[in-house]
Amino acid sequence: MFFSQKILVVGGGGREHALVWKLAQSPHVSAIFCAPGNAGIETLATCVSIEVNHIEELAQFAIDHDIDLTLVGPEIPLSLGIVDLFESKDLKIFGPNKEASQFESSKAFSKKFMKKHGIPSADYREFTQYEEAVKWVSTLPLAPSHQESGASIVIKADGLAAGKGVRICKTFEESTKSLQDFMCNKIFGEDNARVVVEEFLKGEELSYLILCDGNSYLPLASSQDHKRLLDNDEGPNTGGMGAYSPARNMSDELEFKIKTRIVEPFLKGCLKEGIHYKGILYIGLMIIQGDPYVLEFNVRFGDPETQALMLRLDSDLIEVILSCLKGEISQFHLEWKNEAALCVVMVSNGYPDHYKKGFTISGLEKLGSEHVVFHAGTQKMNHHYVSHGGRVLCIGSLGTTLEEAHEKAYRAVSCVHWDGVHYRKDIGKRGEVL
Ligand code: AMP
Ligand code: GLY
Repeated sequence: MFFSQKILVVGGGGREHALVWKLAQSPHVSAIFCAPGNAGIETLATCVSIEVNHIEELAQFAIDHDIDLTLVGPEIPLSLGIVDLFESKDLKIFGPNKEASQFESSKAFSKKFMKKHGIPSADYREFTQYEEAVKWVSTLPLAPSHQESGASIVIKADGLAAGKGVRICKTFEESTKSLQDFMCNKIFGEDNARVVVEEFLKGEELSYLILCDGNSYLPLASSQDHKRLLDNDEGPNTGGMGAYSPARNMSDELEFKIKTRIVEPFLKGCLKEGIHYKGILYIGLMIIQGDPYVLEFNVRFGDPETQALMLRLDSDLIEVILSCLKGEISQFHLEWKNEAALCVVMVSNGYPDHYKKGFTISGLEKLGSEHVVFHAGTQKMNHHYVSHGGRVLCIGSLGTTLEEAHEKAYRAVSCVHWDGVHYRKDIGKRGEVL
């Protein structure tokens, strides 16, 4: 049976290109629109110039164009209540409502929920007063100024901060500077003057994404992101510099622990508190000596994890999502390729801070069909692409082993160039030693 769906995808990054790429392969899809999309997405979908935070305009577009189903990529429209708005107009949309989106839009909400429902996570304190936060931090065994040894703490702005609201601080001076930035200078706005200060967890990260239908869930394949800008996990945190799937630190035993200690208490907690969680839940985990701890919940697909996952997914994405929306996700069986997928993100010089745009990208025409190029921040000028964002491209390959996927993806990456291009050389090398 074919459903002939007209789909709207909200977003315009590499993640949305991967979703559109996968949707375009489905026989159930008759048309794809993407708002705002990007120059790569344009080859597969009709791009619509509506920004992701203009949720009223998006709803009107869905009505005017008889959209059957809307998929939301980024967290901002979810936290603004795009799902509540669409549902109030009888428009079908996949994602959590505004209340459930607080798991990402408020770290304090999320931490409180985890503590209440016994979900393992770093110890924390929440502060709204700068002086109180400094007083507490001064009691911690932080390293002396300018020394690398000693404990660290993690200071997190409460609300959404485009991946920049988390600082890992080694000294008292670094900590007070971050508290000042967040609480006094309010660099992420008035709402983010609340902070969560938490214990630093040392381990291996793992991204565990599940589809939730309000009652039950279905896990996607495991993946691992590389958040730091530079090789060997150095430099500042970014939105993500590359990902691969399956994660090499996943095992049946670990997955059992994640399900019983985290996913099931999460779903039970939601039911108890009357939170209806429907959509993707992205659980960012730190694995310490074989035990999982939650670093964060995101209420959407990960970027760039989704690029790696879509390369491996054999099932039809529309069938999966429709079954989730019908509340039948526990009966769905997902099919994955046995191969490993690996994606490398190529960024502009200066990212994640200030960078220039408009550099001509060369070499894309040299890539064969064994490579998939997901565009994140590009523009088409005459007959070539130019850089138009911090994260510019994400190039992915499949391989019979992770090493082969790594080798193939980097062969492609080495063909592509623009002035100031930067990428990590060690995607997929993390987690080798557990
Ligand atoms: P979050 O947005 O909370 O996931 O934080 C972004 C990134 O900061 C995570 O993916 C980790 O790399 C790092 N991080 C966050 N919290 C901690 C923590 N408690 N211990 C160590 N690293 C952390
Ligand atoms: N890969 C990190 C994120 O999507 O938040």
